[in-house]
Amino acid sequence: MVLALPADCGVDPQSFHGTFPPAVFDANVVRRPVTASAAREFEESEMIAPPARMTAVRGPALTFTGDPFRDGLDATMVHEPDAIVAMADGKIAHFGPAGRITPLLPAGTEVVDYGRDALISAGFIDTHVHYPQTPMIASHGAQLLDWLNKYTFPTELKFADKAHARAVARLFLQENLRNGITTSCVYCTVHPQSVDALFEEAERLGLRLAAGKVLMDRNAPAALLDTAQSGYDESQALIAKWHGRGRLLYAITPRFAVTSTPAQLAAAGALWQQHSDCLLQTHLAESRREVALIKELFPDQQSYLDVYDHHGLCDARAIFGHGIWLDEPEMQRLHASGASIAHCPTSNFFLGSGAFDLARAIRTDRPVRVGLGTDIGAGTSFSILATLGAAYKASQLNGHSLSAGHAYYLGTRGSARAMYLDDRIGSLAAGMEADLVVLDMRSTPLIDFRMNEAGTFAEQLFVQMTLGDDRAVQATYVAGRPAYVRKTDANRSP
Ligand code: GUN
Ligand code: ZN
Repeated sequence: MVLALPADCGVDPQSFHGTFPPAVFDANVVRRPVTASAAREFEESEMIAPPARMTAVRGPALTFTGDPFRDGLDATMVHEPDAIVAMADGKIAHFGPAGRITPLLPAGTEVVDYGRDALISAGFIDTHVHYPQTPMIASHGAQLLDWLNKYTFPTELKFADKAHARAVARLFLQENLRNGITTSCVYCTVHPQSVDALFEEAERLGLRLAAGKVLMDRNAPAALLDTAQSGYDESQALIAKWHGRGRLLYAITPRFAVTSTPAQLAAAGALWQQHSDCLLQTHLAESRREVALIKELFPDQQSYLDVYDHHGLCDARAIFGHGIWLDEPEMQRLHASGASIAHCPTSNFFLGSGAFDLARAIRTDRPVRVGLGTDIGAGTSFSILATLGAAYKASQLNGHSLSAGHAYYLGTRGSARAMYLDDRIGSLAAGMEADLVVLDMRSTPLIDFRMNEAGTFAEQLFVQMTLGDDRAVQATYVAGRPAYVRKTDANRSP
């Protein structure tokens, strides 16, 4: 099969003028005692270092101490109505009720009080996203394989130009921060310079981020193909340059078995064996047509997952995008291997791929690790709140009602666990990296109005994930530093 390339479906690179906005404090935030503004504007070229002195935020907080799918919400969800998160050297120094933490703060510690209508959480985590597809989000009328041909490949061709890649990477990371996403696992394009551009921008912002060069040696336009050897060599060089540098991690990234020959999958397996602390990301069983095509391309393999497994690509730290159309032996194998699924509900609805059955995936007798993904540009929103709302609907279509508490776990600690990073990110606790999102629980007139009727905390959370979006993100902290602060006040009703 050849995925043919239409003449021109791309986006003018001149239309990108990505510049990162300086962090600016919301005028309504009360600081006590006020010292120098923690929202110092930063230069474009400046590398962001975590503040050495202690700073703190105060407000209602939500976090998880374990897996609520396994142990229940009562045992794992912590909702603290008046909490302090104290941060120093990029880590959380203290977390707990304000009454307990206040005496622990050194004299003069700046405490930013977000008030009782806020919610402080660990930063959101996106376990599956394509930054080069930012320019083609909301492209009409095709399902997966045709959509790749018609929109994706022409868009990705432009990333041969590093200046274009950098401009898109900046806009992408800015959107992430505007949506409270502090870590993501990112597909670049086949071009090594597309990886350099993203990592350079992420490093400048001090982000914890995983990414990799797409490996693709068949069934795509010639200008987007590498070979088993060149893809291996280029990935080796990128791993040497970026993996473990600061907060950055490398993800070995064969796009999917449709666009990689067995030789390339084997090369990816060999590479992962040499660098087993890297992540591995690819797509798996997203659409029924794709599954049928895999059967044709790999007649000797028992299943789609078996294609990857056969080449040494199914193990802990593998993140398989989608996994909608998996049979029971494949689920068993994912469980046994410790590999993860990235659940990308807005993408699955947009492409008409299907409704992922989360309850089946996390079945307690053989739970599979599941994280949440926006899957931009098949996904339709950078908002993790909107993505959780879509996850609720995907579960509804499978006869289960995902609870709000379980959903927020999925967007934070659950996704950290899917990336094998839950010892560092995804929850509020002393020693964890200080990546936070501060939500405004009354971010629009409708939400404000609806919140007046929301009796329980669970109901309040559910309102946010059903009606909320980027407007609900009041601030995003990266390694203890405010990297984004919403400029305008909420659209409150009078
Ligand atoms: N399968 C292979 N490549 C892609 C991609 O870029 N997006 C999605 N949603 N599925 C894929
Ligand atoms: Zn994807």
